[in-house]
Parts: sequence; C-alpha cells; structure tokens
Amino acid sequence: MKKALILIGSPRKKGSTAALAAEAERGLKEQGVETTTFFLNDLKIKGCQACYWCKRNDLAACAVRDDMQQIHQLIQECDGLIVASPIYFGGVTAQTKAWLDRMFPYMNMNLVPKLPKTKKVSFIFTQNQPDERLFRSGIESFMFAVGLSGMTVKAHLVGCDLDAGTKPPVTERKELMEQACQLGRDLLA
Ligand SMILES: Cc1cc2nc3c(=O)[nH]c(=O)nc-3n(C[C@H](O)[C@H](O)[C@H](O)COP(=O)(O)O)c2cc1C
Repeated sequence: MKKALILIGSPRKKGSTAALAAEAERGLKEQGVETTTFFLNDLKIKGCQACYWCKRNDLAACAVRDDMQQIHQLIQECDGLIVASPIYFGGVTAQTKAWLDRMFPYMNMNLVPKLPKTKKVSFIFTQNQPDERLFRSGIESFMFAVGLSGMTVKAHLVGCDLDAGTKPPVTERKELMEQACQLGRDLLA
C-alpha cells in the first residue's frame, strides 16, 4: 500500500487550508493510499540550529531531538507528501518555514539532493487576496526550496479569496474543493 504524508501549516484546525487538505486526503484514499496528517502547529519543531551535523556527517538525518525526528522518519517512509499552508505576509506560515529549514539534511552543500525523485510532493496554499499572482514569488520560492530535497514537485493549488469567518466558507467553493481532491488523486497516480 502506498503511503502519503500530509503536513498542514495553518494553526486553524477548521480553516480553509485544513478543509482543502482534507479534500486532498479524500482523493488519496480513493486511490487506496494510506495517509498520515499532522498540523505542524501541534508539533515542537525548532528552527534549524545550523550545527551542520548533517553536513559534517553527510547524513540525511538531523541532530536536533524534537518532533521533527518523527516527521523525518515519515518523509523517508512515504511515497508522497502534501504540504498545505496559508499565505502569511506573502509567504508560508512560520510553522511551515520552520519545517522547511529542517529539511536541510536532504541536500548537501553543493545542492545535491538526498531524497529520491520517485517521492512526489504537491502543495496547497490559501490566501485572502483574490489575485493569485500577488504572492507568486513567495509560493514559487517555497516550492523550489522543497524541491531541492530531490522530491519531484508534482502540482500546486492556490485557493484565493479565502478568509474563514469573514468570507464564504471554502466548502461552498465546489470547484476548488474538487481541485484539491484531484490533487490528492494525482499525487501518486
Ligand atoms: C498573520 C496573517 C498574515 C496574512 N497574510 C496574508 C497575505 O500576505 N496575503 C493574503 O492574501 N492573505 C493573508 N492572510 C490571510 C490568510 O492567508 C487566509 O485567510 C488563509 O486562507 C488562512 O488560512 P486558514 O483558514 O487555513 O487559517 C494572512 C493571515 C494572517 C493571520
């Protein structure tokens, strides 16, 4: 059975990002993929301590003993990953950025990646602003950085004009919900 890991970078368990991630999970399950989901906000993940232990030892492993150890284990075991984050100030949330910095063990100093291309990653972003182009540079640089690990970047979705509680709920945006479900179906297809 194939396995996918879903990491949600929003602090809101009932927000738009979590709802779209749940749709992606539904799509994965339809394909018979086993899923594990984490809210990064529930985990204790320090920023990278720049100890360079992973570089000195040339290891795809981290010396910092916190909840990222479990995430590293799951990343290595899974066939695919979905990272879902709201846009905060033009980029991903602090929780998601902390996770990204801790992906440092998956590339060496010459940017040679350590994860196999066969591992796939797709992304879900949500933002308040209706214009998808506004934060494209932040979104693209985040996806590029994740791709430095070696995983194949498969797809991404930007849910615009979303603000749980003040704008119509994402669950009413049927097309967007279907796109998220399809992103899940396609991850390992
Ligand atoms: C601190 C903070 C910063 C935000 N910055 C942006 C932003 O730069 N651009 C934007 O379009 N929306 C911004 N938003 C709105 C959220 O990205 C948007 O409402 C998102 O859908 C929230 O996801 P959630 O419902 O999963 O929490 C911000 C929200 C917060 C709380």
